Amino acid sequence: MIYLGCPLSKESSFELVTSSPEETVELGRTIAGYLMKGDVISLSGQLGAGKTVFSKGIAIGLGIDDNIISPTFIILRTYQGRLPLYHFDAYRINNTEEFEEIGYKEFLYGGGVSLIEWGEKIQKILPEDILEISFYYQDKLNERKIIFKEYGSKWKDRRKEWEKSLQP
Ligand SMILES: Nc1ncnc2c1ncn2[C@@H]1O[C@H](COP(=O)(O)OP(=O)(O)OP(=O)(O)O)[C@@H](O)[C@H]1O
Ligand SMILES: [Mg+2]
Repeated sequence: MIYLGCPLSKESSFELVTSSPEETVELGRTIAGYLMKGDVISLSGQLGAGKTVFSKGIAIGLGIDDNIISPTFIILRTYQGRLPLYHFDAYRINNTEEFEEIGYKEFLYGGGVSLIEWGEKIQKILPEDILEISFYYQDKLNERKIIFKEYGSKWKDRRKEWEKSLQP
């Protein structure tokens, strides 16, 4: 994993590159150690770039033994670990009403950690304080650029703390 720091000196974001799915799982595992109840993470970026792989790492880090699979067809899967994990996939959501129908608020404002693949599709109904993690292909087959950006004040100090643990 290569830590790239803050692009364009944007204080609210930092980037890194992983070179294999295993490294992305490991990144998720590390970050899971810092997560707290009520955290909402939006996973965005390119199709097939690594959101579910990263989610597996988060689950492992939360002590969840189940095999994490993409919740695409059912929108939400829940797991129980150190904290409950609510794994959403908004890919097939056509409008925010569909998301409202599944009672998403109970989860997002509940006692666990929410991971929302394709969160950008429902951005307007997400809480103000979210961490957005975006995944992009690179020239090399197994490389992915991963960009962390926080919205709202809640994440700032916390993100700085674990950003340090990712630096060389
Ligand atoms: N560095 C890497 N990090 C993550 N995945 C990688 C990496 N290199 C290769 N891969 C491969 O890329 C694919 C990522 O698939 P994954 O299902 O996680 O993507 P996704 O973003 O969830 O897709 P979707 O947009 O369909 O939800 C996997 O097949 C994985 O093995
Ligand atoms: Mg996925």
